[in-house]
Amino acid sequence: MLSALTRFAFLICLALLAAYIVLSNWGVDSAIIAGMSVLAVPLIYSYINLARLRRYVLSDAVETMPLPSGFWEEVFFRLQRLVRNLKQEIRTVEQQHSRFIEAFQASPNGILMLDDQDQIEWCNAISERFFGLNFKRDALQRVNFLIRRPEFIQYLHKRQFEEPLLLERMGPGANLSLMLQAFPYGDKRHLLLIQDVTDLQKADAMRRDFVANVSHEMRTPITVLMGFLETMQSLDLDKSQQHQYFEMMMSQAQRMKSLVEDLLTLANLEANTLPAPMQAIKIPTLMALLKNDAEALSQGRHAFNFDISSSGELMGEEREILSAFGNLVSNAIRYSPDVASISANWRVNADGEGEFSVTDTGPGIASEHLSRLTERFYRVDRSRSRETGGTGLGLAIVKHIANRHQAQLIIESTPGKGSTFTLRFPKERILQQG
Ligand SMILES: Nc1ncnc2c1ncn2[C@@H]1O[C@H](COP(=O)(O)OP(=O)(O)OP(=O)(O)O)[C@@H](O)[C@H]1O
Ligand SMILES: [Mg+2]
Repeated sequence: MLSALTRFAFLICLALLAAYIVLSNWGVDSAIIAGMSVLAVPLIYSYINLARLRRYVLSDAVETMPLPSGFWEEVFFRLQRLVRNLKQEIRTVEQQHSRFIEAFQASPNGILMLDDQDQIEWCNAISERFFGLNFKRDALQRVNFLIRRPEFIQYLHKRQFEEPLLLERMGPGANLSLMLQAFPYGDKRHLLLIQDVTDLQKADAMRRDFVANVSHEMRTPITVLMGFLETMQSLDLDKSQQHQYFEMMMSQAQRMKSLVEDLLTLANLEANTLPAPMQAIKIPTLMALLKNDAEALSQGRHAFNFDISSSGELMGEEREILSAFGNLVSNAIRYSPDVASISANWRVNADGEGEFSVTDTGPGIASEHLSRLTERFYRVDRSRSRETGGTGLGLAIVKHIANRHQAQLIIESTPGKGSTFTLRFPKERILQQG
């Protein structure tokens, strides 16, 4: 490759040579024209190439520009390479950018980016849903004009972002609990991360309720028991009175024992997430056992109609099934007046599912209670339930056992007429005989 200076010197020599040749034949004027003409050739060549370059630059097609020969070839080539590399870099940056945006959009948490004036620079779809924002509409709006909750405005104002902020009753249905925290970054900018903690808050509330309920349930028998003990300590009781007091103390201790047992059963069922095993349980044997227990509990106060002729087998955990069925029968007895009649049935329905149901002609349950009956410690009539020794854990246990057997608990009840509790088992757990 010749250097620019050599090229230039070569051109001058060529022009001088042309001028010299012409001078000897046609005089000074022609020699100047000849010399100038030689000098004009590279100018014209350069002009043509510049015009081409302009055309390609204006139509953004530098990369596809054909390369000229000669001096301009290298210029075009290098320019082409520069433009190609720049465009590739821009594409890579754009791809990275859109991947970041996609990742932020995929996040289950809300993300809001604020500039140094607390104006929204960017937000993801989740935060739009949490706060009713619309990025296209709200971009570069001050966030405290859009999220008007006083506790949030105060949080933003105080600028103490070490602790997160809990916002309750948020979202489209005003039923979400959101945990929000601001993180400073860049040049006085802030990233707001918002997590939906509704389920955690609910679990926390349930845990608090549970502890309060257990304490409350335990306190009553303990208080009564202590009352009896004090009485026995301070009074000089005769043998029969002492016996009477011991009986009453025993019943309170029994109450505490059954509460603890029920709690342990529930804890075990909750800890065991596996489906129940497939032990074959003979329905007639089960029905006979239930009938015996029912008669013992009722002591002749109720009329029973137990269908002990039902054949077939149910595949499940025998101990759990007996406990669930027994719970439904004991509820029917305990919550129905003495004259009521109680029936228990097993049948396989048209879809091959097994149904165990207990029907009583007791007082029934008002519809507003039905969906809550399987909650732990839920009782329709607290005082009546306590009288009967109930802790409100029975149906919660039944529900857990049903879940472990992929069964459904169906409760139908008409106030004043009676109730039917049905456990419906999937056909895979039913063995029919005969
Ligand atoms: N057959 C029924 N008739 C009327 N009310 C019922 C019947 N079965 C259950 N209930 C109501 O549902 C509530 C919840 O029943 P559940 O079996 O969970 O608790 P419990 O019987 O009070 O206590 P536990 O079963 O732990 O001894 C009862 O307190 C009672 O008010
Ligand atoms: Mg019960």
